Amino acid sequence: MFYGTRSVAPLGVGFIAGLVASILFSSAGLVPLLPSGVQGYYQACHSIIKRSVNQFVDNSESWKVNVLKSPTIRVNSNDNDDAKRQFVRSRFAATELGIREKLIVIVLGQSSLSVALNASIGQHVPRLHLFAEQSRIDVDMSALAENLSPYRPDGQHAHVHILNTIFNKSMHENYDFFLFVPDSTYVNPFRLMDFVNSKSFHIPSVYGIPDERDQCVFSAGILVSNPIVRSLIQQRHVCTSIVANSDEKAFEMCLHRAANVSCVKDDGFRWWRTDDNAEAGAAIHDRIGLFSTAHGFNDSITVSKLLSDVDVVSLHDHFIDVERARIEREIEQVSKDLDAVSSTIPKRKTWPKAMPPSMKPPNRYQVPFWEYFTETDIFKIEPHQNVHPLVGNDAIDIREVVTAARKLIEPSVRQSGDFVRLRNGYRLFNAMRGMEYVVDLEYQGNDVVETERVVLCRPIHVTQLVPTVPYVKEDTDVTLVIPVGSAEHVIPVRALLVRHLRMCKLSISGVDNRRTRLVIAVRGISALNVRQLSNDLIELKKRCKSMQMETAVLVLKPNSALMVEMAAMDEAIDHYGQQTVYALLSPYADYQREFLDRIRLNSIRHFQVFVPIPFAEYSPKIVTADHALSAKPPGSVPKNEPNTHANESLRDRITRLNDESTQVLDHSRPIVVHKNNGFFDTNEFSTVAMYGADYVNMRPRLMQRIVDGELVLDLSLMFLGQSDIHVLRAIEPSLKLRYHLRSCPNTLTNADFTRCSLSQKQAVGSKAQLADVVFNDLEDLSVLSSVGK
Ligand SMILES: *[C@@H]1O[C@H](CO)[C@@H](O)[C@H](O)[C@H]1NC(C)=O
Ligand SMILES: *[C@@H]1O[C@H](CO)[C@@H](O)[C@H](O)[C@H]1NC(C)=O
Ligand SMILES: *[C@@H]1O[C@H](CO)[C@@H](O)[C@H](O)[C@H]1NC(C)=O
Ligand SMILES: *[C@@H]1O[C@H](CO)[C@@H](O)[C@H](O)[C@H]1NC(C)=O
Ligand SMILES: *[C@@H]1O[C@H](CO)[C@@H](O)[C@H](O)[C@H]1NC(C)=O
Repeated sequence: MFYGTRSVAPLGVGFIAGLVASILFSSAGLVPLLPSGVQGYYQACHSIIKRSVNQFVDNSESWKVNVLKSPTIRVNSNDNDDAKRQFVRSRFAATELGIREKLIVIVLGQSSLSVALNASIGQHVPRLHLFAEQSRIDVDMSALAENLSPYRPDGQHAHVHILNTIFNKSMHENYDFFLFVPDSTYVNPFRLMDFVNSKSFHIPSVYGIPDERDQCVFSAGILVSNPIVRSLIQQRHVCTSIVANSDEKAFEMCLHRAANVSCVKDDGFRWWRTDDNAEAGAAIHDRIGLFSTAHGFNDSITVSKLLSDVDVVSLHDHFIDVERARIEREIEQVSKDLDAVSSTIPKRKTWPKAMPPSMKPPNRYQVPFWEYFTETDIFKIEPHQNVHPLVGNDAIDIREVVTAARKLIEPSVRQSGDFVRLRNGYRLFNAMRGMEYVVDLEYQGNDVVETERVVLCRPIHVTQLVPTVPYVKEDTDVTLVIPVGSAEHVIPVRALLVRHLRMCKLSISGVDNRRTRLVIAVRGISALNVRQLSNDLIELKKRCKSMQMETAVLVLKPNSALMVEMAAMDEAIDHYGQQTVYALLSPYADYQREFLDRIRLNSIRHFQVFVPIPFAEYSPKIVTADHALSAKPPGSVPKNEPNTHANESLRDRITRLNDESTQVLDHSRPIVVHKNNGFFDTNEFSTVAMYGADYVNMRPRLMQRIVDGELVLDLSLMFLGQSDIHVLRAIEPSLKLRYHLRSCPNTLTNADFTRCSLSQKQAVGSKAQLADVVFNDLEDLSVLSSVGK
């Protein structure tokens, strides 16, 4: 009875919840969106509710729908009018939206000082442009190229040409502020940008240092906002007649006349001027130390008068120092503020400072896995082997962490007692925070060993974005190169060709007009095999209509010491050139069409090679062992008899497995990507897709090793440990490797041998499958014991 109530209660609650939900959803109009099966249920409830709804008091006030009349569109019958009214769009969104660069610095160049100015301040302001008389341009200055506008004076002052060019190049439309300076004035870009950012460019104003006639002094720099420049450009004809004793004076006068504004003196706009009558030889670069102790020098926007390039460089260095000091002060202030803020809201306090807090796992299935380590071992989260000796980078990492932890606690917390050892610890990688560690350190206390727990974090300091990736198109031709180095590869390759043909026929997307070339490079196989392969290829080419197939057998020189993969690539590139994509495949490769597309997208000339991680098939014998071993000889044993094989030894079982004619040789059976069928073999580098040119460039790196007598497993060494070409390594579900016995000669280099034997071991089968073979009888025992109960 009691049980009954308990089981009815949730039912009732569910029913009520269903009613409530249906009220909510039906009134919100969601019911029609539900799948039809569900809809029926909700509608059934709906009718019940309709009756009860009437009993509710309707609280909503009366309302009326007001349909606004849409504005009438005047239909114009005149075609010509329409054409005229067509809206002309600007060429750039920025122009249309009125987005402009903040500032352009216009330098009136006289000497090679301009070059030094460009090199120092050019990279800290949005744009720097130089004007120089044609006759003054030397080799140094001509290097400025597009930042330089030369002019011929033709008896006119510089400002005439400057204003004309500004107009001709539409500069007045593209910048908020214009700073005009002679090249004998240094501009402090940091203070200048601060100043410009604090002013509104809408307000027509001219900032500078006014002289006695309210004209801005040119050598102090004249900062002009956009509206003034526009009117200056419009009124520039006023300036053509100006005659003055220098270009600079003329510019001052022009500005005053054409724009009719007086110079605004602003406290933020500081000009540092060296004494004109200072003793000779006292150049700025000698006196920066002295100047910097004076009030205001560090904040000046312009400094004059420059005498040499050394002045420019040393001033620039000084102002960079000032800026750096300022940024450091700001950072300090921000971290102080952060502390202050976080002390008022304790829950928000994160550690380390300003890092996102470590997240709580959303549920018990998504808890992060920590790696456990001791002084000698580390337990990693790996499917095949959990404990590893603590060596190599892991050991260095943990040694550093222990040192840091001791440094942290020994001066303050643990003043007494000797450090004994690292008892154990945990580490975890968090992509937002970096590496996190918990270590337990043992110290010798009075009589007893005490443990201190320290939590540490190694934050991510620098994250680097991959630089812009060149644009690739999917219409590149691909050449698949399959090296065949021995007779045992012939059957797998013929199977591969059969699969390729099937892939070809399955294609439903019509004819693919990108060319795919399939090349088999052979060495050391019989003439009969070569003939078989080439017949297969001819057949493939004939029957593969949906792809533009081209096929060839390349016969490599016999008895070459070169590994067959390299010999094959060399030969293929000799035949087809360096400008196409080559994909070097293993004879055991099993690919789908998507893989070819991925090759096209991921191989980028002079930028990236693609080394996919294939799905390596487990030994089919092991995968099907369970089935094969428990199978009874047909018709021999009645159903309820115990299994005849229950008592056989492991050796017998394996012999029987090897005898079983499982469909091992059925190479056309598709492999489903599933943990029971294989695994993504991260040690496998046999497939490489790259441009021929990149192969040729990188080839000497590997050749060197081979000449030195090393035996390598694959081409991976060619691309590792260099920074010219990126290596894209990603799992590739549409590339599979058929099961094969991998041979790992012990003459391989150490790293390659380790890699090879790992692949070899893992490719046999999953742990569970191997256990099934080894402990085949355990299951039977458990069945027996349960029957006995
Ligand atoms: C001028 O400055 C720009 C921007 O910093 C720089 O790219 C260019 O190389 C400089 N030109 C010369 C000749 O130094
Ligand atoms: C501006 O362009 C016009 C014609 O487009 C040309 O006649 C004039 O010389 C140019 N002025 C300058 C300063 O380049
Ligand atoms: C210049 O501006 C002043 C006042 O700002 C005005 O009185 C004067 O007429 C203007 N001159 C010209 C030529 O526009
Ligand atoms: C100017 O900056 C320099 C370098 O940062 C510094 O040594 C000097 O004390 C500063 N001068 C003043 C007056 O603050
Ligand atoms: C297996 O061994 C047990 C004891 O060793 C024996 O009783 C049983 O009959 C054997 N089963 C078969 C099928 O040989």
